[in-house]
Amino acid sequence: MMLNMSLTTPFAVYVHWPFCLSKCPYCDFNSHVRHNGVDEARFVRAYATEIAAAADRVPGRTVSSIFFGGGTPSLMQPASVAAILDAIAKHWRVAPDVEITLEANPTSVEAARFRGFRAAGVNRVSLGVQSLDDAALKELGRLHSAQEALDAVAIARANFERYSFDLIYARPRQSLESWAAELRRALAHAGDHLSMYQLTIEPDTPFFGLHKAGKLVVPNEDLARDLYDLTQAICVKAGLPAYEISNHARPGGECRHNLVYWRGHDYAGIGPGAHGRLTIDGRRVATETEKRPESWLMRVEAAGSGLIVDEKLTAGETADEFLLMGLRLAEGIEPARYTALSGRTLDPKRIAILREEGAVETTTDGRLRVTLSGFPILDAVVADLAA
Ligand SMILES: C[S@@+](CC[C@H](N)C(=O)[O-])C[C@H]1O[C@@H](n2cnc3c(N)ncnc32)[C@H](O)[C@@H]1O
Ligand code: SF4
Repeated sequence: MMLNMSLTTPFAVYVHWPFCLSKCPYCDFNSHVRHNGVDEARFVRAYATEIAAAADRVPGRTVSSIFFGGGTPSLMQPASVAAILDAIAKHWRVAPDVEITLEANPTSVEAARFRGFRAAGVNRVSLGVQSLDDAALKELGRLHSAQEALDAVAIARANFERYSFDLIYARPRQSLESWAAELRRALAHAGDHLSMYQLTIEPDTPFFGLHKAGKLVVPNEDLARDLYDLTQAICVKAGLPAYEISNHARPGGECRHNLVYWRGHDYAGIGPGAHGRLTIDGRRVATETEKRPESWLMRVEAAGSGLIVDEKLTAGETADEFLLMGLRLAEGIEPARYTALSGRTLDPKRIAILREEGAVETTTDGRLRVTLSGFPILDAVVADLAA
């Protein structure tokens, strides 16, 4: 019997809400502050319009996950989230066990609002805790204290079966001892998932200027590597091993939405600056929408979608992307899928060299994966295999 792929293949919808209460000095996400408020109803209508346009291109799919990312989607009214979810359900079939995540900043977490998100259909939240050290939070430009972040975690736990929170480490002046203590404290409040990102100095952010001027010093490569190793060891012991380079989960607690990206499945990107990957007529198509919120809004109102990039990828591009995403996962990739996507095979000589160096390994079921010691040099490993 032929399997109906539309019912079995994961398909995700990413919805980008691009507004924040204030801009954090390290952040280069597409996020904006609007002191005069946002015409939320008008934006929500535009989201529904763009959802309809995306569904026209990939009809008949079953949505397995939805992710409200930002910016700060927890600033939205629960009714707006409900309206966007209704629009998705109007155009696609939604799986009965769909995962619906909403990113929340502790500053905008109130119990009543969270109950509203839950009633709207959200079943998982991801909180931007960032640190449990008040001085570090201040330096990161956060508007909440460690206690307020933990209060938000408690509200998340009371309202949602599944929640995650983000921490940023490899921060200025951070020692192995202080990070170990902070991480252990965080783990005591963890649900089924934790994301831990090393602080990245992004171009065109205030942190970039400070770093360049020598006023913000981040751990050197050796210390960053030790911090990474320590993170792995503590999290494994706590039952939350890494399933991706920066993401940890208890078994079964992995974020299904992010797995769609890393396993190379399709996702529709809705809202300002959202990226998507859609398979249309057997070809993978990369999409991207206008970044500036008000320009996006006007484009959608005029043309039905905010798309500014809509490109068919070549087999080689699709395969390289599959490597780049798939090798971030602890489970690694299936070489046969790489071949199906690109028509090429991975070079056995290069794999042998990387294996000898201890950077990759082949599992008993034939998957290729990066080892724990290979993860810190992941970019080099991917470049080696893709070239
Ligand atoms: C879009 S933000 C999420 C949520 C929400 N806006 C907040 O800040 O609470 C996603 C996450 O990316 C991480 N992040 C953003 N910029 C980063 C940087 N320069 N280095 C490391 N992590 C970063 C933060 O942990 C942040 O929570
Ligand atoms: S880290 Fe979060 S709250 Fe801060 S500017 Fe970026 S998206 Fe907004």
